[in-house]
Amino acid sequence: MNKKGLFITFEGVEGSGKTTQINLLSSYFKEQGKDVTVTLEPGGSSLGKTLRKMLLNKNQVFHNLKTELLLFYADRCEHISEIIEPALQKNHVVICDRYIDSSYAYQAGGRQLKKLWINNLNSMIEKTPDLTFLLDLPVEIGLKRAEKRANLDRFEKESLQFHNRVRNGFLEISKTNSRIKIINANNKHPQEISIEIQQYLKELDI
Ligand code: TYD
Repeated sequence: MNKKGLFITFEGVEGSGKTTQINLLSSYFKEQGKDVTVTLEPGGSSLGKTLRKMLLNKNQVFHNLKTELLLFYADRCEHISEIIEPALQKNHVVICDRYIDSSYAYQAGGRQLKKLWINNLNSMIEKTPDLTFLLDLPVEIGLKRAEKRANLDRFEKESLQFHNRVRNGFLEISKTNSRIKIINANNKHPQEISIEIQQYLKELDI
């Protein structure tokens, strides 16, 4: 099968500004006349909407943390087949809010499950992003933003230590993955960050 489309993911701790950057990047590509599909995990597929409610509901109890991990991968499998692959086949730029690196950061980093299990699950899904932007900032700053936005969900209400393990998990995985570009998202205007992202894309001839 010929390679089609472009698959970009955004990652980061809570309140890192992914949604704003995704909207700005989507407009940038549309101005170039490209078709863009903006989507998210968990919850990008039809089944995923139900899974998202379960995964984010702060009253949801999992007696085994592997269940949580597997639900994220069930969400991912549906999302790839229903939304991501079809859009790429139509030559769209697919921009996804969170993907496999969130599983490394949250389930391996935050929850301290084995990275090997996530490697194995990834070998099953066989879909790697072309490019990933990691919006990095101190977790305290991101969490303050998240608190202002709405009631905290099951992940947002975790401890500061949990969120620091998540941030370190993201930074750790970036070291061995050249597709991940770390963007310093601390103390910067959203437009400034977006221009940095666009310049990086130009450097890559995208
Ligand atoms: P969401 O409200 O989309 O968070 P944000 O607005 O910060 O992107 O909630 C998604 C939550 O799910 C977020 O806290 C991270 C978590 N998550 C995982 O733990 N593992 C995963 O594989 C994914 C995709 C998300």
